[in-house]
Amino acid sequence: MSQTDFDPKDFRRALSQFPTGVTVITTLDAEGKPVGVTASSFNSVSMEPALILWSIDKGAHSLSAFENAKHFAVNILGSDQVATSNNFASRGEDKFANVAYTAGLGGAPMLEDYAAQLECKTWAVYEGGDHLILVGEVIHYRFNDVIEPLVFARGHYAISAQHPEMVKASSPCDSVSQEGDFISNYLLHLVRNLQQKLRASLYPKLKQACDISPEEWRILSRMHSCPIMKMSELTDLVMQPDVALRQTTDWMTEKGLVEYQGDDTLKLTNKGIDVATKLKDIATAEEAALLSTLPSEQAGQLKANIQKLIDTLD
Ligand SMILES: Cc1cc2nc3c(=O)[nH]c(=O)nc-3n(C[C@H](O)[C@H](O)[C@H](O)COP(=O)(O)O)c2cc1C
Repeated sequence: MSQTDFDPKDFRRALSQFPTGVTVITTLDAEGKPVGVTASSFNSVSMEPALILWSIDKGAHSLSAFENAKHFAVNILGSDQVATSNNFASRGEDKFANVAYTAGLGGAPMLEDYAAQLECKTWAVYEGGDHLILVGEVIHYRFNDVIEPLVFARGHYAISAQHPEMVKASSPCDSVSQEGDFISNYLLHLVRNLQQKLRASLYPKLKQACDISPEEWRILSRMHSCPIMKMSELTDLVMQPDVALRQTTDWMTEKGLVEYQGDDTLKLTNKGIDVATKLKDIATAEEAALLSTLPSEQAGQLKANIQKLIDTLD
């Protein structure tokens, strides 16, 4: 048996650089009760036969249900199902209390909302260290391709968006570029492109100034105006599920930026206040420098107009 001396937290951070989707995997336990767990370890294995896999922590409550199940269902979540993911990532006894579902193959619960669903027959169960690896043969599947999939990366929820560089400013097609390329002047493309460029410009500056990751910056920027917060409030604001948020805040306590007050409350330390202030100044200066390239009356209007468009869509 090989023995590594990795720091588990650090190893998890390395692995979290690989983004995944988010699934809720369901089955029935020996008494016929529905069980479900949020899992991002899902992956495809084989086309012929149609096989998929995922792994379950040997410490999970639902381990024996999945280990012994003849069937299970994979519910691949859409981008508006963060609450569903958090619900099935909890250790709650009755995760299905407020969830609409029907019975799929072998009775495995099929959630009403999904980006895709796979009904599986258990094909093999393998040992995988502190996890069991479950391979399923897909018997039925369906998908909803107007639903954007939910993404999980670096311990926070995200949405998948087309990379701005995929849409070049000018089209390779001459006749189109003469008439003007529709996409390069399309609002959705412009907003995405601006967001991507702003992030690419700001985050390295925050890292260089204070050795801060984007996840730590999201927490510090929220706590700057509210230096004592409940972890549960922060979870929703920074889009990190409980366990991942706790990993980020553990890391931040080691750096002396925050401290726990009891189990559920986080307080910004004096060092945290200094760093948050410095980061806010950098971010504000970055924004001011960018807006200063516009005529002054238009700079003021820009943010107001963006807010107005957001309100209209709400
Ligand atoms: C985004 C996300 C992905 C997760 N992926 C897995 C996974 O692949 N395997 C696993 O065993 N637990 C995973 N978990 C943790 C479980 O969902 C969590 O431990 C849950 O409480 C297990 O439920 P149970 O104890 O009722 O079985 C994940 C949690 C989140 C938030």
